Amino acid sequence: MERPYIICHMLTSLDGKIIGDYLEEEQTQYFIDEYEKMHERYGCKAWMCGRITMEKNFTFGHKLDLTHENITTIPKTDFVATTDTKTYAIAVDPSGKLGWTKNYISEWSENRTEDHIVVVLTEQVSDAYLAHLQKIGISYIFGGKEQLDFTVVVQKLKNLFSIDKLMLEGGGVLNGSFLNEGLIDELSLVLVPIADGSSNSLTLFETRSQLQKKKPVNFILKAIEKLANGGVWMKYFTKNE
Ligand SMILES: NC(=O)c1ccc[n+]([C@@H]2O[C@H](COP(=O)([O-])OP(=O)(O)OC[C@H]3O[C@@H](n4cnc5c(N)ncnc54)[C@H](OP(=O)(O)O)[C@@H]3O)[C@@H](O)[C@H]2O)c1
Repeated sequence: MERPYIICHMLTSLDGKIIGDYLEEEQTQYFIDEYEKMHERYGCKAWMCGRITMEKNFTFGHKLDLTHENITTIPKTDFVATTDTKTYAIAVDPSGKLGWTKNYISEWSENRTEDHIVVVLTEQVSDAYLAHLQKIGISYIFGGKEQLDFTVVVQKLKNLFSIDKLMLEGGGVLNGSFLNEGLIDELSLVLVPIADGSSNSLTLFETRSQLQKKKPVNFILKAIEKLANGGVWMKYFTKNE
């Protein structure tokens, strides 16, 4: 199968939480900065996040009003928009909820580039939403009728956008889906030396209720680096059996 090499790059507390109050602690900012520097160092042409992460950080809950659009049926086929941008932000948004208003995410730090948006959809998406994406020049690909098949998705990313190295950057549900499908080649983990301690929280890998959890996945430690202020960066490869 021709697909990109996939690195899951994440930051967690000592107790494996990807969200929580520990992120607001003063010393955490240093680790977030290190996380961003590592993102750049990997030099991936594309990064991917789930709908919830994209909404929280990039569309900020903006809702589109598409009711006035008089739309004919649009074929449920992949759409590659014309763009000069050669790096990509991939948003996994099965039913088309994200309120994008432009076809790129601007560079928001010195470690980030301006990236063309590619949306991963299922065929449950409305014609009005597809028309909106086409109108503002966002690319989209289909990953299944009702459920997403990420094996198909990553093959399309390679074939349509020549993405050889993909950075998977959360949240837990999306990471868990990739883990479940055996699609993670490497884990890059920044460990913040704070225990969050909350129970109802999200961890690195989560399983959605409708998905069947597969066997636990073994990893092999390839590198470890001591960060300042008691943090650690760990690089693991998955153990292919
Ligand atoms: N610490 C870190 O390094 C880090 C990194 C990234 C994100 N985060 C945090 O993680 C939190 C969000 O994590 P999350 O796990 O709740 O959400 P998420 O993974 O960002 O997004 C989950 C959503 O993506 C879609 N999706 C993902 N996998 C799918 C699948 N297999 N099948 C169908 N749809 C799928 C679904 O959208 P629909 O609901 O529309 O169906 C699902 O609800 C945010 O608070 C964010 O800030 C932390």
